[in-house]
Amino acid sequence: MSKKIESHLSEERVFKPSKDFSKKARIKSMAQYKRMYRESIDKPGIFWGREAKELGWQKKWTKALEWKAPYAKWFVGGKINVCESCVDRHLKEGRANKAAIIWEGEPGESRTLTYRQLHREVCNFANVLLAKGIKSKDRVMIYMPMTPEAVIAMLACARIGAVHSVIFGGFSADSIVDRLEDCQAKAMITSDGGYRRGGVVPLKENVDAALKKYKALETVIVHQRIGEIGAPVKMKKGRDFWWHEEAAKVSSHHEPKGFDSEHPLFILYTSGSTGKPKGILHTSGGYLTGTYATCKYIFDMQEDDVYWCTADVGWITGHSYIAYGPLANGVTQVMYEGAPNHPDFGRFWDIVEKYSVSIFYTAPTAIRAFIKAGDHFPDSRDLSSLRLLGTVGEPINPEAWMWYHEKIGGGNCPIVDTWWQTETGAIMISPLPGCTPTKPGTATLPFFGVDAAILDETGEECGPNEGGKLVIRKPWPSMLRSIYGDKKRYRETYWNDYPGMYTAGDGARTDKAGNFWIVGRLDDVLNVSGHRLGTAEVESALVAHKVVAEAAVVGRPHEIKGQAVVAFVTVKGEVKTSDTLAKELRNHVGTVIGAIAKPDAIYFAPSLPKTRSGKIMRRLLKELVATGKVSGNVTTLEDQQVILDLQAQLQQ
Ligand code: PRX
Repeated sequence: MSKKIESHLSEERVFKPSKDFSKKARIKSMAQYKRMYRESIDKPGIFWGREAKELGWQKKWTKALEWKAPYAKWFVGGKINVCESCVDRHLKEGRANKAAIIWEGEPGESRTLTYRQLHREVCNFANVLLAKGIKSKDRVMIYMPMTPEAVIAMLACARIGAVHSVIFGGFSADSIVDRLEDCQAKAMITSDGGYRRGGVVPLKENVDAALKKYKALETVIVHQRIGEIGAPVKMKKGRDFWWHEEAAKVSSHHEPKGFDSEHPLFILYTSGSTGKPKGILHTSGGYLTGTYATCKYIFDMQEDDVYWCTADVGWITGHSYIAYGPLANGVTQVMYEGAPNHPDFGRFWDIVEKYSVSIFYTAPTAIRAFIKAGDHFPDSRDLSSLRLLGTVGEPINPEAWMWYHEKIGGGNCPIVDTWWQTETGAIMISPLPGCTPTKPGTATLPFFGVDAAILDETGEECGPNEGGKLVIRKPWPSMLRSIYGDKKRYRETYWNDYPGMYTAGDGARTDKAGNFWIVGRLDDVLNVSGHRLGTAEVESALVAHKVVAEAAVVGRPHEIKGQAVVAFVTVKGEVKTSDTLAKELRNHVGTVIGAIAKPDAIYFAPSLPKTRSGKIMRRLLKELVATGKVSGNVTTLEDQQVILDLQAQLQQ
C-alpha cells in the first residue's frame, strides 16, 4: 500500500460528490434527501406507493401496508407479475432493442441479449417449466454457473409463480440435499458445468450425488454450458432433460398472469447461529419495489449506464442487484461467469474497459486481493468510463476504500458502501452518490423508509460513538416475510430482542454526523470473503467425521478474506493426530458444506477450554487466534492448563 494512501487515513476526511455528478444525479442535495427521507418515514404508504406504481401492476393495491408485528404485507390486494415488470414492460417503453445482459464467459466468449431476446428466452423457458408440470408455488432449485440462463431460469419461475431457490455453485452435494429437503423442491435446473479459474465445476455431477439421497425430485433440466469439452454428464431417463431439447418443443409466447403482491418469489438459504441454514422467504411486490428503488437512487441508474455487479446469483446480491433490481430499471448490465484472477488479476479491468462499464459494484475482499496483486493491473487499463463505485458484504477498511477511490475511480467516482443482508432484501444503509458526504469505512445514512437505530441492552438509543445493536424500527417493503417453514425461528431470531423491532445481528455505532459504522456480527456467524458462514455449521460438519469427538470453530482476522475459519478439534480415543488427518478434515468440511467453509487451520487439542458447566469458551479461542495469547479472565475455566497448552501450540 502506498504512503500517499496511508496519509489519508483519518475518519475526519470527508469526500463530497463533484458538482457535475450531483447536477445529473437523481438525488442532488442533502436537503432533497432529507425531505424525501422524512416523507418515507412519516408517510410510507405514499412514498412507497409512488415507487411501486412505476413497476406496472396488473391490479392496483387497496392498502400499501398491513403491519402486525412481526408480519408485514405490502401492497395488499395488488396483483403483479415480477417477470413482466422486469422484462415485458421495457418492450413497451422503448427498450426492446436495448442490451439487457452483456455476458462474458470465463474462456472469453461474449454474448448480448436485448430486452426483446431476453423476453423470448424467458417466455420459452416458462413454457418448458409448465410443460414439466411446474405450478404456482412449487419450489424449483437452481444450481447454475453465472450464465444468462441462470437469470432466465429465475425470471421464468417468477413468471409462472413458482418459487425459486438458488444454491451457490460452490456448495457441495450435501448442502444441496439439506436445502432440497427443507423446501421440498419439485424440480432442479442445473448445467453440465461452469468455468471457474480455468477448470470446470461439475455441477450436474453434484446434483446426481445429491439426488441419490433426495429421491422426491421429479425433474432435472440441464443447460448445456460445457458441451463436449467436459466429461459427458449422465442423464437419467424420465428425470433429466436437456434445456435446449425441451425448449425446441414449446412456443416462445407466454402471457404473464398477475400474482398477489405477497405471492412468494424465492427462498434463499443463509447461515445462522445453528447448524441448519435458514430459508429466507421473500415475496413479490414489496421486494421488487425495494430492489427497484435502491438501484434507482443508490446506483443512480440512468438510461445510458452500463452496470456491473460482480456477485454470484447464488447470493442475495446476485438476486437483488443482478436479476431483479437492475432489470426492473431497464438498465444494461454486464454479467461475468468466472474468477477475478483468470487468467490474471487484470480480468475485471479488461471487462470494464471492453464494455465501458460506468457503475461497478463489488466486495471489499476482492478489492483487497487486487491491492495485493499490484497496481500495474488497473494502471494499464482504461477505466475512464466508470462514474460510480459500490461495495457490499463486509466493512471496508479505509486503506481498501482509498485504493478503490484513487486507483479504480481515478479520484472522482463516488463510492457507495452499502450495508444490507439476505433478510433485508435490499440495501438499507448507504450513501446517495449525488449528495451524501462519504468517509472511508462508514455506510453513512439510512436509505428511504429505513428507520435504523443503535440500541443498548436495555433498549435505550446509544449516543454517538457508543457501540450497540443495530435495529430497524419500522417495516420496509423488501423485508423477509419469514423463515421458510419455521415461523418460530423467524420470531426468535429477529424479533425477540426489542418488541416490534428487527434485530440485524450486527454491532454498530454512529458518529456525530449520524453516520452508521458497522462493526460486525454479534452472533456466531463469520464473514468469510463477504459470505456468511455459521460456526455451528462448520462444527457440525467436523463432528460428523468418524474420528472427531468435539470441535470449536472461530474466526481469525485475515488480510484478504476479512475472516478465516480456524477449528479446534478433539479426536476420539486412540486416534493419532497428524498433518494428514488435518488435511482430511479440511477436505471433509469442503465435501459437507463447500470449499468456502474449509478451515484455514486445524489445531488438535486433547480437550477444549470449557466453563465448569461444560460450555466451550469461544471468547478465549477467538482471542487466542487473533493475538496468539489469552489475556482475559480465565478463572471460570474448568481446567486452565487446556488454554495454556493451546497457546503454546499456536506460538510454535
Ligand atoms: O455483517 C453484515 C455484513 O454482511 C452481513 C449480511 O450477510 P449476507 O446476508 O450474506 O448478505 C451480504 C450481502 C448483502 C451483515 O449482517 N455486511 C454486509 N454489508 C456490509 C456488511 N458489513 C459492513 N458493511 C457493509 N457494507
